[in-house]
Amino acid sequence: MCGIIGIVSNKSVTSNIIQSLKKLEYRGYDSAGIATIVNGDIDEKKCTGRVDNLEKILFKSPSNGPLGIGHVRWATHGVPSQVNAHPHSSEEVSVVHNGIIENSNELKKDLENKGYKFKSQTDTEVITFTLTDLLRKYDLIDAINKTLKKLNGSFALGIIFKKYNNVIVGARRGSPLAVGYGHEENYLGSDSYALKSMTNKITYLDDGDICILSNSKIEFYNSKNKKINKEILTLSDDKHNAEKGDYKDFMSKEINEQDMTAKTCINEYVDHLRQDINLYNFSIKPEEIEKIFLIGCGTAYHSCVIAKYWLEELTSISIEVDIASEFRYRKLKFNKKSLYIFVSQSGETADTFAALDLCKKNNAKTCSIVNMVESSIARASDFVLPIHAGPEIGVASTKAFIGQMLVLYILAIKISEVRKEISKSDYSKKITELKKLPDLISRTLKCQDKIQIIAKDFLESKGAMFLGRGLSFPIALEGALKLKELSYLHAEGYPAGEMKHGPLALIEEGLPVVILAPKDRYFEKTISNMQEVIARGGKVLLISNETNNVISENVRFTLEIPKTEDCLTPFLMTIPLQLLAYHVASLKNYDIDKPRNLAKSVTVE
Ligand code: G6P
Repeated sequence: MCGIIGIVSNKSVTSNIIQSLKKLEYRGYDSAGIATIVNGDIDEKKCTGRVDNLEKILFKSPSNGPLGIGHVRWATHGVPSQVNAHPHSSEEVSVVHNGIIENSNELKKDLENKGYKFKSQTDTEVITFTLTDLLRKYDLIDAINKTLKKLNGSFALGIIFKKYNNVIVGARRGSPLAVGYGHEENYLGSDSYALKSMTNKITYLDDGDICILSNSKIEFYNSKNKKINKEILTLSDDKHNAEKGDYKDFMSKEINEQDMTAKTCINEYVDHLRQDINLYNFSIKPEEIEKIFLIGCGTAYHSCVIAKYWLEELTSISIEVDIASEFRYRKLKFNKKSLYIFVSQSGETADTFAALDLCKKNNAKTCSIVNMVESSIARASDFVLPIHAGPEIGVASTKAFIGQMLVLYILAIKISEVRKEISKSDYSKKITELKKLPDLISRTLKCQDKIQIIAKDFLESKGAMFLGRGLSFPIALEGALKLKELSYLHAEGYPAGEMKHGPLALIEEGLPVVILAPKDRYFEKTISNMQEVIARGGKVLLISNETNNVISENVRFTLEIPKTEDCLTPFLMTIPLQLLAYHVASLKNYDIDKPRNLAKSVTVE
């Protein structure tokens, strides 16, 4: 997804812009660009592909100004190409943009009638020319305000000017934008992570805010053009550094550190001395909740589906789960006795944020479960439960999934305890078992070598199927999603009991089918479904914690995971599936950390 950087200094900013753009690479992008002011004129350089390509261009043809903007683009309007890459510049202004301008076609017609010649297919270029036009009649602030008023849709903007050549302007509506304070220089960035190597003093723009950055000061205006002051936050140091270390890629690091992810998260919430869960200032009274909505996208949505099973098992609260892009357009009846929980690794996903915004506008109780505590979703919700997973860089989410599930599980048992729906002894037993999880995860991670062999079976196949029931059903969904994301294979995740109602038609000789069958109340039923697959030629990989008594004749591979209580099995089931997707993609030589077309943080609808 697109990313913005702006730096205003008293020395050349090019190299720092490039380094910061590299920090934004994790979001997924297809082209990159930079604009600086050199000898009083706007100097724009852009390219398709990686920031490395941009660096090569700048090596041959340097562009050393004391202020500049940079961008990584993830195509929405117009194909990935050099001309569509940002910045989009006229003689007078240069603009980088995240978001979508919904009325760009109308604005474009008006501007073309005035004689402006468009070079790109993007929606962003209308901002460049609208601003250029208005700057002919108005001063900086008025021209900016009038331009923003003309735009429908969402944006985070970074703008530099030929005439006002010592400032960068930032503006936000819908898409996140952070401002950083430095020593004799100041910064703009689409997230604080990109600015962290330069400063830990950050302010976030709210919707409608404009900021004007020079190297000595930063001014803020709200949507009513009133000068405002904003709180400066000091970012905490990351406990986990975002470096690859000895790993080949971030994803393998993130998969392999999941025992530590679990340990850190459990330590944050479990009071070992009192054998209790501490949710700190959880301002919501669990006794009064009648219904919980769980909302997220992608992997985060899958953790919501699992939480539904846990909460239903442990409490009498009714649970609804929804994909954020669907939730935001539902005609909902909001109720004071409902709690709306938003799950998001980045805390910036546009659909999840919009769903949260809808709840807030209806005065609903909101809670968010996020990895990035400084994110828009965290800041907008009534209550935040961080997952403490540390920066996740691989686009395909792994350790954040473990963290999301953990916080949801911890929340479920705590709610159950407060509502007196679980006995004291069962509550204590659950905490004891939970504390064993990091060790169980570490034991499960030892299946790497076997998975590497199994992965070869997926290389020639057209697709794959993942089947499970109960708590293993959402894990089947997540296993299929991981395989799709990384290895570009068609993969279906299905509740095993639903097979006969359609998907069975897909089973043919040699199709890899992953059966998730822990020894729980569904075990026998899932094993019967497995036999139906085998009878039709499916190549079965059975993952279970009870493989001794299964007639494994015709099962191609069997993988045993450690035994634990049923509620915790999804954590262990997840690991071989992450590794499977990883090794299939690795054998295919695909870009593991940055799968094609995908973005880490989806900040557009
Ligand atoms: C993108 C990522 C997924 C992620 C989803 C939700 O699609 O590629 O890995 O699960 O967004 O992201 P969030 O940050 O809200 O958890």
